[in-house]
Amino acid sequence: MTPSDNTLTDSNFQYLVGYIQQACGLVLQKNQIYLLENRLMPIMRQDNISTLNDVVDLLKKQGSSFGQALIEALVTHESSFFRDKKIFDFFTQEILEKLYTNGSPLAPINIWSAACSSGQEPYSIAMLIQEFARKTNPLTLTPISSSMCNILATDISKKILDKAQEGSFSHFEIQRGLPAMLLIKYFKKNDNSWMISNELKELIKFEKYNLTQPQKIITQTFNVIFCRNVLIYFNEQDKVKVIQRLHNHLKSGGYLILGSSEFILQNQTNQLTLTAVKDFPGIYQKA
Ligand SMILES: C[S@@+](CC[C@H](N)C(=O)[O-])C[C@H]1O[C@@H](n2cnc3c(N)ncnc32)[C@H](O)[C@@H]1O
Repeated sequence: MTPSDNTLTDSNFQYLVGYIQQACGLVLQKNQIYLLENRLMPIMRQDNISTLNDVVDLLKKQGSSFGQALIEALVTHESSFFRDKKIFDFFTQEILEKLYTNGSPLAPINIWSAACSSGQEPYSIAMLIQEFARKTNPLTLTPISSSMCNILATDISKKILDKAQEGSFSHFEIQRGLPAMLLIKYFKKNDNSWMISNELKELIKFEKYNLTQPQKIITQTFNVIFCRNVLIYFNEQDKVKVIQRLHNHLKSGGYLILGSSEFILQNQTNQLTLTAVKDFPGIYQKA
């Protein structure tokens, strides 16, 4: 198949991008057909589909069973350990400092990594919490357990959540952002991969959750919500709705942490009682 025999008709393009936007928030423009072609190629090969028009036909026939495979293929999973280190320094120095007294938290800490991808984000958070607990109370033999800290890690993609839950990382993945000291402490080497320790795994619960569609499966409130590098893919309307929902899940005084190039519009922060944290773009605190 070549791109030339794969030209999407206008109505099929509208149908496809409309479906994708409605299903996961991802906004695609006409000049991104190359992205559709590249990302959908493996599915097309596997299902013997020769053109994007045929993809649309199949989508119309099969609906969400095929639609989920399309979404899985289209979303971007780029992530790394301690991505944007400044944010994680703030998390340790400002947030954990406030939540801990005399070596342990006053109440269980609840953290949500919304759009966790392959798990580097929630595992980075878990490492910092264990490190902080040990440093604050060096005599503690038992590290922080799930009765003191819960990390909920969610994503729209079942495939990437399975990988995250397995906690196995390639040599390439552990070389990106992970300090050697933490690698030695929290990972075990297998043949071609590194397996994360149970001490970290036990703090994290992985669940499928679509940020752009209201679902009632999350009932608790959180001290901190990380929602990084996903809102950039949504249109303004979806962004506003997602931020509203995340705000409702924050405890008073809690923090919402977006990607460093993701912002909340001034009029929305006023409505939501969120204040931007000075010098830390993307971090907001709820009153
Ligand atoms: C670029 S990764 C960011 C991962 C991590 N937060 C980070 O900053 O390193 C974006 C993740 O968002 C997920 N995602 C995309 N649309 C979503 C949606 N509507 N609901 C939940 N997760 C979504 C993707 O599956 C992907 O794993």
